[in-house]
Amino acid sequence: MNLDTKYLGLDLKHPIIAGASPLPDDLDKVRALEDAGIAAITMYSLFEEQITQNMIGTEAHLGSYENSFSEAASYFPEVDLLERGVEHYLDQLAKVKAAVSVPVIGSLNGTREGEWVNYATLIESAGADALELNLYFLPTDIDESASQLEDRCIRIVEAVKARITVPLAVKLSPFFTALPHFAKRLAAAGADSLVCFNRFYQPDIDIENLDIRPMLDLSHSHELRLRLRWLAFLSGRIDAQLAVSGGVHTGIDAVKALMAGADAIQVVSSLLINGPEQVQEMLDEVNAWMQEKEYASLEELRGCMNYLRCPDPDALERANYMRVLKSWRS
Ligand SMILES: Cc1cc2nc3c(=O)[nH]c(=O)nc-3n(C[C@H](O)[C@H](O)[C@H](O)COP(=O)(O)O)c2cc1C
Repeated sequence: MNLDTKYLGLDLKHPIIAGASPLPDDLDKVRALEDAGIAAITMYSLFEEQITQNMIGTEAHLGSYENSFSEAASYFPEVDLLERGVEHYLDQLAKVKAAVSVPVIGSLNGTREGEWVNYATLIESAGADALELNLYFLPTDIDESASQLEDRCIRIVEAVKARITVPLAVKLSPFFTALPHFAKRLAAAGADSLVCFNRFYQPDIDIENLDIRPMLDLSHSHELRLRLRWLAFLSGRIDAQLAVSGGVHTGIDAVKALMAGADAIQVVSSLLINGPEQVQEMLDEVNAWMQEKEYASLEELRGCMNYLRCPDPDALERANYMRVLKSWRS
């Protein structure tokens, strides 16, 4: 089965790519991913906080990020971000790019307006074939309204877009007041793809030591359902590609995401749990399923269950809420 596809202007042999994770920090793991057949690799993020620290050279500054930094740092349980600065990131990106022939997507992660967006240019210069901008944040400012917050995100996207020539993906959270409208604005601001979605790492309370404990749990397939719904709503309705991130563990998960409208399938937890061999497992499952159901191409499958094309679009909306509640039998 030919699973060739184009994502972010890149020719991919199939849509399964490695999402942002610590794997590219180890070149052996990067090569193992390529050997296992991955179609593209996303770098872990370079964080606004790292860049700002690099620019002003003071650790004290990090204090002003409070929780946002511990949230971000929880991505890297074993790596000290503060010691691994901007240069290491760019250097590692160049090494990853030299080590494999599949496309490499850089990742920039920030939420405030500022000079850090200039590093998008450096990521491109270090060899990234495309850039993913992760707008990972918690709206904790009691004085910032939803529309102010969205405007800020749009300005960041425009600023990053203006600094690169490679395609731009924007990774976002599902928690926007009016997600479809915001998605449309992101596309107009220059996002070539939207990555749906960030997972939120919810810290726990350590009741013995009266401390906040950062928690990083890997995902489960059931988390895909939130993504399926929003992919289905956005597919074919905005001028940007769509990638799924969160809850894709099997080939059947990938089939569902494709049906909902995903152009690319990002996988992280499943690779961390099962190793790079999982890529082939997933591809075999997608191939077998498509053959059994006589799908001739990826295009035939893609978006066939999106909001515009599925047989019962109401089931994606409020009507489904009513039906689901009424379907309960003790
Ligand atoms: C250990 C780990 C590190 C991660 N690091 C990053 C990162 O640096 N930047 C980013 O945008 N996402 C990062 N993520 C989030 C993943 O890219 C992905 O969005 C999330 O894990 C959901 O996908 P999954 O269900 O396939 O794991 C990380 C996830 C894990 C588990």
